[in-house]
Amino acid sequence: MMTDADVRTHWDEAFHAAVVAGLSRPQKTIPCCWLYDARGSDLFNAITRLDEYYPTRAETEILARHAGEIAQFCGEGALLLEYGAGAGVKTEILIAALAAPRLYVPIDIAGDVLARTARRIEARFPGLKTFPIVADFNHDFDLPDNLPPGPRIAFFPGSTIGNLNRREAAAFLSRLRRHVAGRGKAIVGIDLKKDLATLLNAYDDAQGVTAAFNLNLLARINRELDGAFPLDRFAHEARWNEAESAVEMHLVSLDSRVVPVSGQYFAFRAGETIHTESSRKYDPADFAALATSAGWRTARTWRDREGRFSVIGLDAVS
Ligand code: AVJ
Repeated sequence: MMTDADVRTHWDEAFHAAVVAGLSRPQKTIPCCWLYDARGSDLFNAITRLDEYYPTRAETEILARHAGEIAQFCGEGALLLEYGAGAGVKTEILIAALAAPRLYVPIDIAGDVLARTARRIEARFPGLKTFPIVADFNHDFDLPDNLPPGPRIAFFPGSTIGNLNRREAAAFLSRLRRHVAGRGKAIVGIDLKKDLATLLNAYDDAQGVTAAFNLNLLARINRELDGAFPLDRFAHEARWNEAESAVEMHLVSLDSRVVPVSGQYFAFRAGETIHTESSRKYDPADFAALATSAGWRTARTWRDREGRFSVIGLDAVS
């Protein structure tokens, strides 16, 4: 059995491997999952409350305003599978609207987050059973075969799907399709393409919370991997990548320098960047095509009143 100390070591090693591999590439890149340590998660929560960061508010508005229709689409006695167990208030809005949900199945890689989520939902909805599953939903995995019977709804809110590129998103949607089996459905939140100023401001706010969120990655490398990034000589940048239809976050080295990390040395040119996240912005027709390629039919689309964000109801195609 793995002890807590083993798990910690395993994570440290995975973080170390990701950073060394990422900083060795021509375009330095560190996968965005590493932004979310305890401090990073707190900073992300602060981002969701910023004026400039509309996605969380827009999606919550959709779920609250259209809860009845969404619940009707989901049907009675469903098993609700949630990919990534941190969505909090959005999940509660959906569960509160569902007709006699049979089971809540949160899926997350972090066991402690998962246990906390399961306890919170059980306290909030007495009588609703939970079945937490520890898994990395970005990789292929099967659901346990002892889940109770009933129609399955896969819930993937937050435009988290936007962090995946086209190939990864298609693979993810195919995985959901497999997980819900025959008569399943999915509810997916996507952020929509819109004017550049709105998009870039959402990822580069006036108070600098997003900058602190991005720079925390370097602070984390300094803390956990014995790195020596000078935090005042790297700058947060949000940029639009038209070919990928994505807002990208980068960390720009203001100088030419060499930075040690765990005894290895990484050279930066002045202006060179580390790419830390992509957030894809969808055109609804493009998303529908992607869903079709993964075995789904777009059954419903809901939008916030300002038309910035969309919650999509997908039907499994048999
Ligand atoms: C939580 C991944 C959906 O991409 O909009 C917010 C993360 N990054 N501000 C997003 C994020 C910078 C967010 N997701």
